[in-house]
Amino acid sequence: MDTHPAPRATNRLDAFVDRYATRTAGMTASEIRSLFAVASRPEVVSLAGGMPNISGLPLDVVGGAISDLVANLGPVAMQYGSGQGVPELREQICEVMRLEGIEAHPDDVVVTVGSQQAVDLVTRVFCDPGDVVICEAPSYVGALGVFKAYECDVVHAEMDADGLVPEALRQAIAATRAAGRTIKFLYTIPNFHNPAGVTLSTPRRREILEICREEDVLILEDNPYGLLGFDDEPMRALRADEPDRVIYLGSFSKTFAPGFRVGWALAPHPVREKLVLAQESATLCPPQFSQMAVSAYLTEHDWQGQIKQFREMYRERRDAMVEALDDLMPSACSWNVPDGGFYVWLTLPPGINAQAMLPRAVTARVAYVPGTAFFADGFGSGSMRLSFCYPTPDRIREGVRRLAGVLEAEMELRATFGADQPARAVTGGYDAPGTDVS
Ligand SMILES: Cc1ncc(COP(=O)(O)O)c(C=O)c1O
Repeated sequence: MDTHPAPRATNRLDAFVDRYATRTAGMTASEIRSLFAVASRPEVVSLAGGMPNISGLPLDVVGGAISDLVANLGPVAMQYGSGQGVPELREQICEVMRLEGIEAHPDDVVVTVGSQQAVDLVTRVFCDPGDVVICEAPSYVGALGVFKAYECDVVHAEMDADGLVPEALRQAIAATRAAGRTIKFLYTIPNFHNPAGVTLSTPRRREILEICREEDVLILEDNPYGLLGFDDEPMRALRADEPDRVIYLGSFSKTFAPGFRVGWALAPHPVREKLVLAQESATLCPPQFSQMAVSAYLTEHDWQGQIKQFREMYRERRDAMVEALDDLMPSACSWNVPDGGFYVWLTLPPGINAQAMLPRAVTARVAYVPGTAFFADGFGSGSMRLSFCYPTPDRIREGVRRLAGVLEAEMELRATFGADQPARAVTGGYDAPGTDVS
């Protein structure tokens, strides 16, 4: 019997507020989401969102593949499917991962609703409230949201120009364990980091694996951008050298299209079994139609050629952003030059607060994401993420020009009146990656 009275008419905004599970307290709109409404107005140059630019996709090919799918395999494509995902697609996923040195069996792959759902399922399977997840500082806002929703605590470990700093990882593990806390896994984005733009160097990969082996820490390797390097061959995945300790996440969102919502997890066999059970309780099965459409695209189209085109297009945009930053930004700012992916991480002059400045920037018709969105602990106010993936090179330059204007005004105001709020100490290089990245 329901012991709760029916919600009474109340002048509170949410009449159900007393009924929600405690964990919903950790579910808040990300800074990015609340920005979307304003940032998506056409007059605003959005350097905020990380939407892939899929305008180069051959819609005729995709349309033809989908139309053939409906005509030839419609009744299967529109039916429920396996909780683990379509077998042919899982085989193709293994081919995709081979580009990063991974030798895997399709039976160890679980298809998910984007890699975002894979982060959710892994956390659901491993984490109890109060468990600790170690994350880079800064880290992907969508993963931080998942960890918060499952009531985990995030401990950040610093990065620099070569990615996660091994000594910082050691310290984070030691300090967490000394406090009697349980570490469930290290969540890491080794390639073209979101939001920091940096890539874990090859020697660091070995060191990070070594530390996790020594300390018996599981690794969640999130790699949606790995094939979007601008110059070099893809880096070797952590999973390629440590199949029993790494759960690897991949996605077709950035290399094909996010609308299909197809990603995957590759996991050690026992974990894979748990992930399938979690997937079945979450969705019964990942969308069969989307999986078969992605599979048909991979079969019928030169998907590697398409990725090459994407890489060239994003490189042009990266160049436009970096050139504009070099030309227009006050010299007290610093930023990194990413070798791939979508993002530049910009460190502001001391005392300038990216969160406080945002309304002024939006008024000046440019949007970015303040660094605080990417920290679980309130740090990051002295930095921002700039995305170059979506706007055209001209718009990127215009966006940077507007941003530089807002920043100069802010610096002038600060020079005249002092900080509009106390400058936050940038402790221990915690607003990583620090100035050495620029
Ligand atoms: C690091 C990282 N992981 C996961 C995702 C989720 O991607 P999707 O669910 O579209 O595969 C994103 C999206 O931006 C991301 O940047």
